[in-house]
Amino acid sequence: MLNDFSEFTVLAHKVCQWAAAFNQRLPDMSVADMTDPVPLPRSVPESGRGFNEAFNTFKELIAPHLSGSAGPRYWGFVTGGTTTAAQLADWLVSTIDQNVGSSGDSIASAIEQQTMEWLLEMVDLPNTFTGILTTGATASNMLGLTCGRQFAGYQQGIDIAEEGLSGSDIEVFSATPHASTLKCMAMVGLGRKAWRPVACLKDSEAMDVSDLERQLAASSSPGKIVVASAGTVTGNDFDNLALIADLCQQHKAWLHVDAAFGLFARLLSEKKAWSHGLENADSITSDAHKWLNVPYDCGIFFTRHSQVLRESCAADAAYLKTESKIPSFMNLGIENSRRFRALPLWMSLEAYGIDGIRDIVRANCGQAEQFANWLQSSEDFTLLKPARMNVVVFKPTKLEGSDVTRFLKQLNQTGEVYLTPGEWLGQAAIRAAFSNWQTRAEDVDRVCQLLQNLVRS
Ligand SMILES: Cc1ncc(COP(=O)(O)O)c(C=O)c1O
Repeated sequence: MLNDFSEFTVLAHKVCQWAAAFNQRLPDMSVADMTDPVPLPRSVPESGRGFNEAFNTFKELIAPHLSGSAGPRYWGFVTGGTTTAAQLADWLVSTIDQNVGSSGDSIASAIEQQTMEWLLEMVDLPNTFTGILTTGATASNMLGLTCGRQFAGYQQGIDIAEEGLSGSDIEVFSATPHASTLKCMAMVGLGRKAWRPVACLKDSEAMDVSDLERQLAASSSPGKIVVASAGTVTGNDFDNLALIADLCQQHKAWLHVDAAFGLFARLLSEKKAWSHGLENADSITSDAHKWLNVPYDCGIFFTRHSQVLRESCAADAAYLKTESKIPSFMNLGIENSRRFRALPLWMSLEAYGIDGIRDIVRANCGQAEQFANWLQSSEDFTLLKPARMNVVVFKPTKLEGSDVTRFLKQLNQTGEVYLTPGEWLGQAAIRAAFSNWQTRAEDVDRVCQLLQNLVRS
């Protein structure tokens, strides 16, 4: 059965060759496979056919239908690629297969701890924060709401982790929560209806802080959570975190900030001030599989209240105890058993340093500006909002509603680029998000030409 370990070198060589060829083809392969899924074998094989056969089937059945999401013209959602250091480190993660749930049996937990400290240093946040890597910004938002819920429970004399939500009264104030925040509200038992929408500033997704002030003062709920944004997913708007943090302090509200990709704008001196006040947040979400270009999945969570996080997430059993001074990350997050997902991030930081990451962020912001400038100069397209950071939101000038969606589908079917839909001030729109290290100015030119040809065809 498992007699192929002795052939590891030969098998790995084959995989390595295929991977190198994939990497090379990536810039020119079809960016998305939009065909219907191929019929897959129905039942699990009774007897295995060996790795070589399984790999051949992968190459025939799966490989032709992959997307080029790690490549330079996948501009959908907010999708990072994977740098060489991160990619190879991720292979090592599978090889060494460490379980970074409890500490005390390897260096892995210490590396995760150091990686979190490095990240704080990189984005200039104080070391009063502690952190954990998660599976993504959704999981980080879940931890933020879980902590906020625990804190809000304390304001009404309830230890929610022990007693549950029954009898508690918690409201969540937010202007433009990401879809994942509402999903997490459903999942942590607050319910989507606990959302108190706060008004936005004119032509912006940023919070109108005076409306928040009014709503917090008017609220009779003893438990309050404010979810603010540092970089909204369409408009790239930043809430005024310094003012919001002051209000939260005044009204005993937990402040959670979703900075999934906006956190890294702090690497650019001209954009850093947008997230001024972030240091006063109670908890922060970010992502590494977006702008830090490590493979899926890798999210980031920070809090200034590690005790609240621990109370919310602790897993206690005799067999889980350890005497190590390094924290057991299972007590600080969702999973007990955890992948060594710090290694690709650690390796990227070792290999490229803060300067390397800053170069990616700067280049992507430049490409967004280049694309936005072209759209603005074109009579065939309307730029719906000036590009601030890495997302551009636009539409074909003469199209509205479902015609915009149809145009987008046609565009994506060319396989040259992949964009995703959006909405700006009630209008159907197309979003282009730049967050891949491989994207170049020539890619932007290529897509501009394509758009021009398509809209005039
Ligand atoms: C602002 C924001 N928050 C949360 C998320 C969810 O991230 P993930 O897909 O990593 O869970 C995203 C994803 O685009 C995002 O942009």
